[in-house]
Amino acid sequence: MAVDVLLGLQWGDEGKGKIVDVLAPKYQVVARFQGGPNAGHTLEFDGFKHVLHQIPSGIFRQEVQNIIGNGVVLDPIIFKKEIDGLAHFNLDLRKNLEISKKASIILPTHRLLDAAYEKAKGDAKIGSTLKGIGPTYTDKISRQGLRVGDMISPDFSAKYNALVDRHKAILDVYKFEYDLAAAEKEFFEAVAFMKEFHLVDSEYSVNHAITAGKTILAEGAQGSLLDVDFGSYPFVTSSNTITAGACTGLGVAPKNIGEVFGIFKAYATRVGSGPFPTELEDEVGERMRVEGREFGSTTGRPRRCGWIDLPALKYAMMINGVTQLIMMKADVLNIFDEIQVCTAYEMPDGTITDQIPFEITDIKVKPVYETLKGWACSLEGMRDFNELPVALADYIKFLEKHLNLPINFISTGPDREACVLRGSLA
Ligand code: GDP
Ligand code: IMO
Ligand code: MG
Repeated sequence: MAVDVLLGLQWGDEGKGKIVDVLAPKYQVVARFQGGPNAGHTLEFDGFKHVLHQIPSGIFRQEVQNIIGNGVVLDPIIFKKEIDGLAHFNLDLRKNLEISKKASIILPTHRLLDAAYEKAKGDAKIGSTLKGIGPTYTDKISRQGLRVGDMISPDFSAKYNALVDRHKAILDVYKFEYDLAAAEKEFFEAVAFMKEFHLVDSEYSVNHAITAGKTILAEGAQGSLLDVDFGSYPFVTSSNTITAGACTGLGVAPKNIGEVFGIFKAYATRVGSGPFPTELEDEVGERMRVEGREFGSTTGRPRRCGWIDLPALKYAMMINGVTQLIMMKADVLNIFDEIQVCTAYEMPDGTITDQIPFEITDIKVKPVYETLKGWACSLEGMRDFNELPVALADYIKFLEKHLNLPINFISTGPDREACVLRGSLA
Protein backbone atom coordinates (compact mmCIF):
# COMPACT_ATOMS: atom_id res chain seq x y z
CA MET A 1 0.00 0.00 0.00
CA ALA A 2 1.01 3.63 -0.36
CA VAL A 3 2.42 5.51 2.62
CA ASP A 4 0.06 8.10 4.11
CA VAL A 5 1.73 11.13 5.66
CA LEU A 6 0.48 13.13 8.64
CA LEU A 7 2.09 16.50 9.34
CA GLY A 8 1.56 19.93 10.85
CA LEU A 9 0.63 22.84 8.59
CA GLN A 10 1.53 25.63 11.04
CA TRP A 11 4.42 26.19 13.47
CA GLY A 12 4.16 22.84 15.27
CA ASP A 13 2.07 21.62 18.21
CA GLU A 14 -1.04 21.34 16.03
CA GLY A 15 -2.03 18.08 17.75
CA LYS A 16 -0.21 15.53 15.59
CA GLY A 17 0.29 13.11 18.49
CA LYS A 18 -3.44 12.90 19.20
CA ILE A 19 -4.33 12.27 15.56
CA VAL A 20 -1.64 9.63 14.95
CA ASP A 21 -2.93 7.84 18.05
CA VAL A 22 -6.53 8.09 16.83
CA LEU A 23 -5.69 6.90 13.30
CA ALA A 24 -3.18 4.22 14.38
CA PRO A 25 -5.73 1.36 14.59
CA LYS A 26 -6.20 1.79 10.82
CA TYR A 27 -2.46 1.31 10.24
CA GLN A 28 -0.07 -1.61 10.58
CA VAL A 29 3.04 0.58 10.60
CA VAL A 30 3.64 4.07 12.08
CA ALA A 31 7.00 5.71 11.26
CA ARG A 32 8.60 8.99 12.40
CA PHE A 33 10.58 10.57 9.56
CA GLN A 34 12.39 13.64 10.90
CA GLY A 35 13.07 15.87 13.90
CA GLY A 36 14.04 14.54 17.30
CA PRO A 37 13.47 15.40 20.94
CA ASN A 38 12.54 18.98 20.01
CA ALA A 39 9.11 17.43 19.34
CA GLY A 40 6.54 16.89 22.07
CA HIS A 41 3.50 14.91 20.93
CA THR A 42 0.71 14.64 23.49
CA LEU A 43 -1.72 11.74 23.70
CA GLU A 44 -4.68 11.61 26.09
CA PHE A 45 -6.81 8.56 26.77
CA ASP A 46 -8.42 6.77 29.73
CA GLY A 47 -7.66 9.82 31.89
CA PHE A 48 -3.92 9.57 31.07
CA LYS A 49 -1.83 12.27 29.44
CA HIS A 50 1.44 11.16 27.87
CA VAL A 51 4.01 13.20 25.93
CA LEU A 52 6.23 11.44 23.38
CA HIS A 53 9.38 13.07 22.00
CA GLN A 54 11.15 10.61 19.74
CA ILE A 55 9.01 7.49 19.87
CA PRO A 56 6.22 7.29 17.25
CA SER A 57 2.70 8.02 18.48
CA GLY A 58 1.47 4.59 17.38
CA ILE A 59 3.27 3.03 20.35
CA PHE A 60 0.18 2.66 22.53
CA ARG A 61 -1.45 0.41 19.92
CA GLN A 62 0.31 -2.91 20.62
CA GLU A 63 -0.33 -4.41 17.19
CA VAL A 64 1.27 -1.48 15.34
CA GLN A 65 4.89 -1.76 14.17
CA ASN A 66 6.56 1.55 15.11
CA ILE A 67 9.64 2.77 13.27
CA ILE A 68 12.09 5.60 14.01
CA GLY A 69 13.35 6.45 10.53
CA ASN A 70 16.75 7.48 9.17
CA GLY A 71 15.69 11.14 8.96
CA VAL A 72 15.37 11.40 12.75
CA VAL A 73 18.06 12.75 15.11
CA LEU A 74 17.96 10.61 18.21
CA ASP A 75 19.19 11.39 21.71
CA PRO A 76 19.95 8.08 23.49
CA ILE A 77 19.59 9.69 26.95
CA ILE A 78 16.10 10.97 26.16
CA PHE A 79 15.27 7.67 24.44
CA LYS A 80 16.06 5.75 27.64
CA LYS A 81 13.96 8.16 29.71
CA GLU A 82 11.06 7.81 27.29
CA ILE A 83 11.22 4.02 27.39
CA ASP A 84 11.43 4.06 31.22
CA GLY A 85 8.41 6.40 31.25
CA LEU A 86 6.42 3.86 29.24
CA ALA A 87 7.24 0.93 31.57
CA HIS A 88 3.89 0.94 33.39
CA PHE A 89 1.92 0.59 30.14
CA ASN A 90 3.21 -3.01 29.72
CA LEU A 91 4.04 -2.56 26.04
CA ASP A 92 6.41 -5.01 24.36
CA LEU A 93 8.70 -2.26 23.05
CA ARG A 94 11.55 -4.53 22.08
CA LYS A 95 9.13 -6.21 19.69
CA ASN A 96 7.07 -3.40 18.19
CA LEU A 97 9.68 -0.66 17.91
CA GLU A 98 12.41 -0.53 15.25
CA ILE A 99 15.14 2.07 15.01
CA SER A 100 16.95 2.93 11.81
CA LYS A 101 20.69 2.32 11.92
CA LYS A 102 20.95 5.39 9.71
CA ALA A 103 19.26 7.75 12.20
CA SER A 104 21.71 10.36 13.52
CA ILE A 105 22.79 10.36 17.17
CA ILE A 106 22.63 13.50 19.31
CA LEU A 107 25.71 13.70 21.56
CA PRO A 108 25.84 15.70 24.81
CA THR A 109 28.20 18.13 23.03
CA HIS A 110 25.57 18.79 20.34
CA ARG A 111 23.36 20.15 23.11
CA LEU A 112 26.21 22.30 24.39
CA LEU A 113 26.83 23.66 20.87
CA ASP A 114 23.12 24.49 20.53
CA ALA A 115 23.34 26.50 23.76
CA ALA A 116 26.60 28.21 22.73
CA TYR A 117 25.20 29.26 19.32
CA GLU A 118 21.96 30.58 20.84
CA LYS A 119 23.85 32.50 23.55
CA ALA A 120 26.09 34.08 20.92
CA LYS A 121 23.05 35.20 18.89
CA GLY A 122 21.72 37.31 21.79
CA ASP A 123 18.42 38.98 20.83
CA ALA A 124 18.53 37.30 17.40
CA LYS A 125 18.24 33.84 18.99
CA ILE A 126 16.02 31.29 17.27
CA GLY A 127 14.37 30.17 20.48
CA SER A 128 15.64 26.62 19.95
CA THR A 129 14.49 23.88 22.29
CA LEU A 130 18.25 23.40 22.97
CA LYS A 131 18.02 19.66 22.35
CA GLY A 132 21.00 19.72 19.96
CA ILE A 133 18.91 19.45 16.80
CA GLY A 134 20.70 22.06 14.64
CA PRO A 135 24.27 20.94 15.48
CA THR A 136 23.38 17.25 14.92
CA TYR A 137 21.86 17.90 11.49
CA THR A 138 24.87 20.13 10.74
CA ASP A 139 27.21 17.19 11.42
CA LYS A 140 25.02 14.91 9.32
CA ILE A 141 25.16 17.23 6.31
CA SER A 142 28.87 17.95 6.76
CA ARG A 143 29.44 14.18 6.79
CA GLN A 144 30.98 13.84 10.21
CA GLY A 145 28.03 12.77 12.35
CA LEU A 146 27.51 9.48 14.17
CA ARG A 147 24.62 7.20 13.39
CA VAL A 148 22.73 4.59 15.40
CA GLY A 149 24.47 1.79 13.45
CA ASP A 150 27.85 3.12 14.62
CA MET A 151 26.94 2.22 18.20
CA ILE A 152 27.51 -1.46 17.46
CA SER A 153 30.86 -0.87 15.76
CA PRO A 154 33.98 -1.78 17.82
CA ASP A 155 35.47 1.67 17.19
CA PHE A 156 32.42 3.60 18.39
CA SER A 157 34.39 5.15 21.27
CA ALA A 158 37.14 6.33 18.90
CA LYS A 159 34.58 7.84 16.51
CA TYR A 160 32.83 9.47 19.44
CA ASN A 161 36.07 10.95 20.80
CA ALA A 162 37.11 12.30 17.40
CA LEU A 163 33.81 14.14 16.98
CA VAL A 164 33.74 15.38 20.57
CA ASP A 165 37.25 16.80 20.15
CA ARG A 166 36.00 18.86 17.20
CA HIS A 167 33.03 20.03 19.25
CA LYS A 168 35.28 21.02 22.15
CA ALA A 169 37.43 23.11 19.81
CA ILE A 170 34.31 25.01 18.67
CA LEU A 171 33.08 25.45 22.26
CA ASP A 172 36.47 26.93 23.12
CA VAL A 173 36.10 29.48 20.31
CA TYR A 174 32.74 30.47 21.80
CA LYS A 175 34.35 30.56 25.30
CA PHE A 176 31.47 28.36 26.43
CA GLU A 177 31.93 26.78 29.83
CA TYR A 178 30.67 23.29 30.51
CA ASP A 179 31.03 20.14 32.55
CA LEU A 180 30.64 17.07 30.39
CA ALA A 181 31.47 14.20 32.75
CA ALA A 182 27.97 13.43 34.11
CA ALA A 183 26.26 13.72 30.71
CA GLU A 184 28.90 11.48 29.07
CA LYS A 185 28.39 8.76 31.68
CA GLU A 186 24.63 8.94 31.15
CA PHE A 187 25.16 8.91 27.37
CA PHE A 188 27.21 5.70 27.33
CA GLU A 189 24.75 3.97 29.69
CA ALA A 190 21.93 5.00 27.37
CA VAL A 191 23.85 3.78 24.30
CA ALA A 192 24.27 0.36 25.93
CA PHE A 193 20.52 0.38 26.69
CA MET A 194 19.60 1.34 23.13
CA LYS A 195 21.65 -1.49 21.67
CA GLU A 196 19.12 -3.96 23.16
CA PHE A 197 16.51 -2.64 20.76
CA HIS A 198 15.76 -3.65 17.21
CA LEU A 199 18.30 -1.66 15.16
CA VAL A 200 17.51 -2.15 11.49
CA ASP A 201 17.87 -0.83 7.96
CA SER A 202 14.39 0.66 8.26
CA GLU A 203 14.15 1.59 4.57
CA TYR A 204 13.84 -2.17 3.96
CA SER A 205 11.20 -2.52 6.69
CA VAL A 206 9.15 0.28 5.17
CA ASN A 207 9.51 -0.89 1.57
CA HIS A 208 8.81 -4.52 2.45
CA ALA A 209 5.67 -3.28 4.20
CA ILE A 210 4.70 -1.36 1.06
CA THR A 211 5.22 -4.44 -1.11
CA ALA A 212 3.31 -6.63 1.33
CA GLY A 213 0.32 -4.30 1.01
CA LYS A 214 0.49 -3.12 4.63
CA THR A 215 -1.02 0.19 5.71
CA ILE A 216 1.66 2.71 6.72
CA LEU A 217 1.42 6.13 8.34
CA ALA A 218 4.41 8.50 8.34
CA GLU A 219 4.34 10.84 11.37
CA GLY A 220 5.84 14.29 10.97
CA ALA A 221 7.27 16.47 13.70
CA GLN A 222 7.31 20.28 14.00
CA GLY A 223 5.27 22.08 11.34
CA SER A 224 5.53 23.12 7.68
CA LEU A 225 6.27 26.74 8.59
CA LEU A 226 9.33 25.53 10.54
CA ASP A 227 10.69 23.68 7.48
CA VAL A 228 14.37 24.48 6.86
CA ASP A 229 13.70 25.38 3.20
CA PHE A 230 10.19 26.84 3.25
CA GLY A 231 9.77 28.16 6.80
CA SER A 232 10.66 31.65 8.02
CA TYR A 233 14.41 31.07 7.79
CA PRO A 234 16.48 31.33 9.97
CA PHE A 235 13.67 30.97 12.53
CA VAL A 236 13.08 27.34 11.61
CA THR A 237 14.16 23.88 12.67
CA SER A 238 16.92 22.03 10.80
CA SER A 239 14.96 19.38 8.91
CA ASN A 240 12.44 19.11 6.08
CA THR A 241 9.17 18.86 7.95
CA ILE A 242 7.09 18.57 4.76
CA THR A 243 5.81 15.58 2.76
CA ALA A 244 9.09 15.36 0.83
CA GLY A 245 10.81 14.81 4.20
CA ALA A 246 8.88 11.54 4.54
CA CYS A 247 10.51 10.32 1.30
CA THR A 248 14.07 11.11 2.39
CA GLY A 249 13.46 10.38 6.07
CA LEU A 250 12.13 6.86 5.49
CA GLY A 251 13.37 5.87 2.04
CA VAL A 252 9.94 6.04 0.41
CA ALA A 253 9.79 6.76 -3.33
CA PRO A 254 7.53 9.76 -4.14
CA LYS A 255 5.22 7.53 -6.21
CA ASN A 256 4.46 5.58 -3.03
CA ILE A 257 3.01 8.54 -1.12
CA GLY A 258 -0.76 8.21 -0.63
CA GLU A 259 -2.94 10.54 1.44
CA VAL A 260 -1.36 13.61 3.00
CA PHE A 261 -3.16 14.57 6.22
CA GLY A 262 -2.55 18.24 6.99
CA ILE A 263 -3.29 19.24 10.60
CA PHE A 264 -3.99 22.78 11.76
CA LYS A 265 -5.39 24.46 14.82
CA ALA A 266 -8.62 26.48 14.51
CA TYR A 267 -6.31 29.40 15.43
CA ALA A 268 -2.51 29.62 15.40
CA THR A 269 0.40 29.31 17.84
CA ARG A 270 4.15 29.60 17.65
CA VAL A 271 6.83 28.90 20.22
CA GLY A 272 10.27 30.46 19.83
CA SER A 273 11.25 33.51 17.76
CA GLY A 274 10.30 34.50 14.23
CA PRO A 275 7.51 36.19 12.30
CA PHE A 276 3.90 35.51 13.26
CA PRO A 277 1.64 37.99 11.41
CA THR A 278 -1.60 37.21 13.28
CA GLU A 279 -0.03 37.14 16.76
CA LEU A 280 -2.20 38.67 19.49
CA GLU A 281 -0.04 40.29 22.11
CA ASP A 282 -3.07 41.35 24.11
CA GLU A 283 -5.76 40.04 26.41
CA VAL A 284 -7.41 38.07 23.56
CA GLY A 285 -4.14 36.19 22.96
CA GLU A 286 -3.82 35.57 26.68
CA ARG A 287 -7.35 34.12 26.84
CA MET A 288 -6.49 31.78 23.95
CA ARG A 289 -3.29 30.68 25.70
CA VAL A 290 -5.12 29.88 28.94
CA GLU A 291 -8.11 28.20 27.28
CA GLY A 292 -5.90 26.16 24.90
CA ARG A 293 -3.34 25.34 27.62
CA GLU A 294 -0.75 26.68 25.19
CA PHE A 295 2.45 25.90 27.01
CA GLY A 296 5.20 23.89 25.27
CA SER A 297 5.04 20.09 25.67
CA THR A 298 8.86 19.91 25.52
CA THR A 299 10.07 23.13 27.15
CA GLY A 300 7.02 24.41 29.07
CA ARG A 301 7.43 27.83 27.42
CA PRO A 302 4.23 29.86 26.87
CA ARG A 303 3.21 29.61 23.20
CA ARG A 304 2.52 32.80 21.27
CA CYS A 305 -1.14 32.78 20.15
CA GLY A 306 -3.09 34.41 17.31
CA TRP A 307 -5.93 34.05 14.79
CA ILE A 308 -5.84 31.58 11.92
CA ASP A 309 -3.66 32.66 8.99
CA LEU A 310 -5.03 31.48 5.62
CA PRO A 311 -2.16 32.71 3.37
CA ALA A 312 0.22 30.67 5.56
CA LEU A 313 -2.10 27.64 5.56
CA LYS A 314 -2.57 27.76 1.78
CA TYR A 315 1.21 27.93 1.37
CA ALA A 316 1.71 24.88 3.58
CA MET A 317 -1.00 22.96 1.69
CA MET A 318 0.68 23.79 -1.62
CA ILE A 319 4.15 22.63 -0.54
CA ASN A 320 2.79 19.42 0.98
CA GLY A 321 0.14 18.36 -1.53
CA VAL A 322 -2.42 17.99 1.27
CA THR A 323 -5.32 15.65 0.42
CA GLN A 324 -7.12 15.65 3.81
CA LEU A 325 -7.54 18.53 6.24
CA ILE A 326 -7.86 18.03 9.99
CA MET A 327 -8.83 20.95 12.23
CA MET A 328 -7.75 20.80 15.87
CA LYS A 329 -8.80 22.54 19.05
CA ALA A 330 -12.09 23.98 17.77
CA ASP A 331 -13.27 23.92 21.42
CA VAL A 332 -10.68 26.55 22.40
CA LEU A 333 -12.62 29.15 20.36
CA ASN A 334 -15.83 28.42 22.37
CA ILE A 335 -15.00 31.42 24.54
CA PHE A 336 -15.18 34.05 21.78
CA ASP A 337 -18.25 35.90 20.49
CA GLU A 338 -16.38 36.85 17.33
CA ILE A 339 -13.59 35.09 15.45
CA GLN A 340 -11.14 36.72 13.09
CA VAL A 341 -9.71 35.02 10.02
CA CYS A 342 -6.67 36.43 8.22
CA THR A 343 -7.32 36.14 4.48
CA ALA A 344 -4.44 38.27 3.13
CA TYR A 345 -1.50 40.46 4.18
CA GLU A 346 -1.07 44.18 3.70
CA MET A 347 2.55 44.92 2.77
CA PRO A 348 4.35 47.99 4.16
CA ASP A 349 3.74 49.81 0.82
CA GLY A 350 -0.03 49.21 1.11
CA THR A 351 -0.31 46.44 -1.48
CA ILE A 352 -2.37 43.38 -0.60
CA THR A 353 -1.09 39.85 -1.13
CA ASP A 354 -2.17 36.35 -0.23
CA GLN A 355 1.36 35.00 -0.58
CA ILE A 356 4.14 34.82 2.02
CA PRO A 357 6.79 37.34 0.94
CA PHE A 358 10.47 36.34 1.03
CA GLU A 359 11.14 39.34 3.29
CA ILE A 360 8.70 38.08 5.96
CA THR A 361 11.44 37.96 8.61
CA ASP A 362 12.54 41.55 7.98
CA ILE A 363 9.29 43.44 7.37
CA LYS A 364 6.04 43.57 9.28
CA VAL A 365 3.00 42.54 7.26
CA LYS A 366 -0.44 43.54 8.53
CA PRO A 367 -3.09 40.84 8.50
CA VAL A 368 -6.31 41.59 6.58
CA TYR A 369 -9.12 40.10 8.65
CA GLU A 370 -12.68 38.97 8.04
CA THR A 371 -14.81 38.69 11.16
CA LEU A 372 -17.06 35.70 11.70
CA LYS A 373 -19.59 34.96 14.41
CA GLY A 374 -18.42 32.77 17.30
CA TRP A 375 -20.54 29.84 18.51
CA ALA A 376 -19.96 30.69 22.16
CA CYS A 377 -21.02 27.31 23.55
CA SER A 378 -19.48 24.03 24.65
CA LEU A 379 -18.83 21.26 22.10
CA GLU A 380 -18.59 18.64 24.79
CA GLY A 381 -19.95 15.24 23.78
CA MET A 382 -20.63 16.23 20.16
CA ARG A 383 -19.58 13.41 17.81
CA ASP A 384 -21.67 14.12 14.70
CA PHE A 385 -21.12 16.98 12.28
CA ASN A 386 -24.84 17.79 12.30
CA GLU A 387 -24.73 18.39 16.05
CA LEU A 388 -22.17 21.21 15.72
CA PRO A 389 -23.44 24.77 16.34
CA VAL A 390 -24.36 26.66 13.16
CA ALA A 391 -21.64 29.29 13.68
CA LEU A 392 -18.95 26.56 13.85
CA ALA A 393 -20.33 24.88 10.73
CA ASP A 394 -20.20 28.31 9.04
CA TYR A 395 -16.60 28.82 10.22
CA ILE A 396 -15.65 25.44 8.73
CA LYS A 397 -17.46 26.27 5.47
CA PHE A 398 -15.64 29.60 5.26
CA LEU A 399 -12.24 27.91 5.70
CA GLU A 400 -13.10 25.17 3.20
CA LYS A 401 -14.04 27.77 0.59
CA HIS A 402 -10.68 29.51 0.97
CA LEU A 403 -8.61 26.32 1.28
CA ASN A 404 -10.48 24.53 -1.47
CA LEU A 405 -10.60 21.20 0.39
CA PRO A 406 -13.12 19.68 2.80
CA ILE A 407 -12.29 19.49 6.50
CA ASN A 408 -13.45 15.98 7.36
CA PHE A 409 -12.02 15.74 10.86
CA ILE A 410 -12.67 18.24 13.62
CA SER A 411 -11.05 17.76 17.02
CA THR A 412 -13.02 19.13 19.96
CA GLY A 413 -10.87 18.22 22.96
CA PRO A 414 -7.55 16.61 23.94
CA ASP A 415 -8.98 13.14 24.53
CA ARG A 416 -8.82 10.37 21.92
CA GLU A 417 -12.63 10.29 21.83
CA ALA A 418 -13.22 14.04 21.26
CA CYS A 419 -13.52 13.98 17.46
CA VAL A 420 -16.12 14.74 14.80
CA LEU A 421 -15.55 12.85 11.56
CA ARG A 422 -17.42 13.04 8.27
CA GLY A 423 -17.07 12.32 4.56
CA SER A 424 -14.24 9.96 3.61
CA LEU A 425 -12.89 9.91 7.20
CA ALA A 426 -16.19 8.92 8.88
P1 GDP B 1 1.88 18.00 18.54
O1 GDP B 1 3.28 18.40 18.81
O2 GDP B 1 1.42 18.42 17.19
O3 GDP B 1 1.61 16.54 18.78
O4 GDP B 1 0.98 18.80 19.59
P2 GDP B 1 1.27 19.01 21.17
O5 GDP B 1 1.01 17.74 21.86
O6 GDP B 1 2.59 19.65 21.38
O7 GDP B 1 0.22 20.13 21.51
C1 GDP B 1 -1.15 19.94 21.31
C2 GDP B 1 -1.86 20.14 22.67
O8 GDP B 1 -3.24 20.29 22.44
C3 GDP B 1 -1.72 18.96 23.60
O9 GDP B 1 -1.72 19.43 24.92
C4 GDP B 1 -2.99 18.15 23.33
O10 GDP B 1 -3.39 17.35 24.43
C5 GDP B 1 -3.97 19.25 23.08
N1 GDP B 1 -5.07 18.94 22.14
C6 GDP B 1 -5.05 18.15 21.04
N2 GDP B 1 -6.24 18.24 20.40
C7 GDP B 1 -7.00 19.09 21.11
C8 GDP B 1 -8.32 19.59 20.94
O11 GDP B 1 -9.03 19.31 19.99
N3 GDP B 1 -8.75 20.47 21.90
C9 GDP B 1 -8.00 20.85 22.97
N4 GDP B 1 -8.50 21.72 23.84
N5 GDP B 1 -6.75 20.39 23.15
C10 GDP B 1 -6.27 19.53 22.23
P1 IMO C 1 6.27 19.37 17.61
O1 IMO C 1 6.66 18.12 16.86
C1 IMO C 1 6.72 23.65 18.12
C2 IMO C 1 10.65 25.37 17.30
C3 IMO C 1 11.45 25.91 18.47
C4 IMO C 1 12.25 26.99 17.76
C5 IMO C 1 12.55 26.36 16.42
C6 IMO C 1 13.91 25.68 16.34
O2 IMO C 1 5.95 19.12 19.03
O3 IMO C 1 5.21 20.12 16.87
P2 IMO C 1 15.01 23.51 17.39
O4 IMO C 1 14.93 22.92 18.76
O5 IMO C 1 14.47 22.62 16.31
O6 IMO C 1 16.36 24.04 17.07
O7 IMO C 1 14.06 24.82 17.44
O8 IMO C 1 11.53 25.40 16.18
N1 IMO C 1 10.22 23.97 17.46
C7 IMO C 1 8.96 23.59 17.70
N2 IMO C 1 7.85 24.35 17.92
N3 IMO C 1 6.63 22.32 18.08
C8 IMO C 1 7.71 21.56 17.83
O9 IMO C 1 7.63 20.23 17.64
C9 IMO C 1 8.96 22.20 17.67
N4 IMO C 1 10.22 21.77 17.44
C10 IMO C 1 10.97 22.86 17.30
O10 IMO C 1 10.60 26.43 19.45
O11 IMO C 1 11.44 28.12 17.54
MG1 MG D 1 4.36 19.46 20.27
